[in-house]
Amino acid sequence: MTTIDKTSSVPAPRGSDDFGGPLLEVRDLHVEFHTRDGVAKAVNGVNYTVSAGETLAVLGESGSGKSVTAQAIMGILDMPPGRIPKGEIFFRGEDMLKMSADERRKIRGRKIAMIFQDALSSLNPVLSVGYQLGEMFRVHQGLSKKEAKAKAIELMDKVKIPAAKARVDDYPHQFSGGMRQRIMIAMALALEPDLIIADEPTTALDVTVQAQVMDLLAELQREYNMGLILITHDLGVVADVADKIAVMYAGRIVETAPVHELYKRPAHPYTKGLLDSIPRLDQKGQELYAIKGLPPNLTRIPSGCAFNPRCPMAQDICRTDIPALFPVTERDGGELPGRGSACHFWKETIHG
Ligand SMILES: Nc1ncnc2c1ncn2[C@@H]1O[C@H](COP(=O)(O)OP(=O)(O)OP(=O)(O)O)[C@@H](O)[C@H]1O
Ligand code: SF4
Ligand SMILES: [Mg+2]
Repeated sequence: MTTIDKTSSVPAPRGSDDFGGPLLEVRDLHVEFHTRDGVAKAVNGVNYTVSAGETLAVLGESGSGKSVTAQAIMGILDMPPGRIPKGEIFFRGEDMLKMSADERRKIRGRKIAMIFQDALSSLNPVLSVGYQLGEMFRVHQGLSKKEAKAKAIELMDKVKIPAAKARVDDYPHQFSGGMRQRIMIAMALALEPDLIIADEPTTALDVTVQAQVMDLLAELQREYNMGLILITHDLGVVADVADKIAVMYAGRIVETAPVHELYKRPAHPYTKGLLDSIPRLDQKGQELYAIKGLPPNLTRIPSGCAFNPRCPMAQDICRTDIPALFPVTERDGGELPGRGSACHFWKETIHG
């Protein structure tokens, strides 16, 4: 059977990059952690691409390797205990894993910025928000204090913080969770990066605030034509803003698809399980489906398909052979661009 090769990720549906290729291309990335319990294989051959103006959502349960992949891209992995035994991470065609520490530093924050879940611990509690935003401009662009403050106010306006001018000298704890997350977005935007990686940017927020912050992020991403990687364990959050989705399980991408196709017709039993466990308005009162069992211990990933102990469709082959990311097609063989599933029984899953 043919398998999808290293460029298997979903093609960019919109936006193009002056560089000509994808902004970011992760190829066969492996990350492991050497712990007292053994070697935890956190990332086991991840491939994806992100182009300018494109949003990739990375979805998966806790521990599936979403953040570790992001940390490897950003160059902020804990090494040791972390190690990258294999893989390439191309940014504008250059492998960042081969760059010097100095070259990496120039990319971090300026070209690739990251937004974390917890704004309160990412911001310094004893410095005003305006000072922290302004610091980006003072340090990186050599602006004066006054100029940097004006820039900070501009950014606060940009992320729609009401009365920015009056609030620029306030401290982080004086803002609500949603407003603090807007400040984190402003920080990430400050140096107009090409790519933003947002790791669970709205998880700590109320549902309505989540949607507002996500809409803002999507709006700014379009305006700046940035690439965006949105990491989440909540499919509902990314449905309206992502172009394509990569579903991760035990450090591997098990399904890729344009976002709306994934919702309509999942081609992997794990994705199916995730979708069935989302509460739906039309099924009020019904008990929610939950995928049985837990994700594997990464020092002892099951042989064959890592999902086999939890999979309702598992057969003998699933316990021995690791499924490659197979190209997913229509029943008659018609192409479904950008679709892939790492399941021996993807046909049965998508076509029934
Ligand atoms: N510094 C570390 N030392 C040892 N193991 C680590 C370290 N960081 C991550 N890991 C391991 O890597 C695995 C993957 O972690 P990762 O943070 O990528 O998960 P995730 O998909 O982002 O999950 P979550 O949804 O909980 O954020 C974890 O289960 C953990 O065992
Ligand atoms: S390969 Fe087998 S165990 Fe894995 S998801 Fe497919 S059917 Fe389930
Ligand atoms: Mg994480």
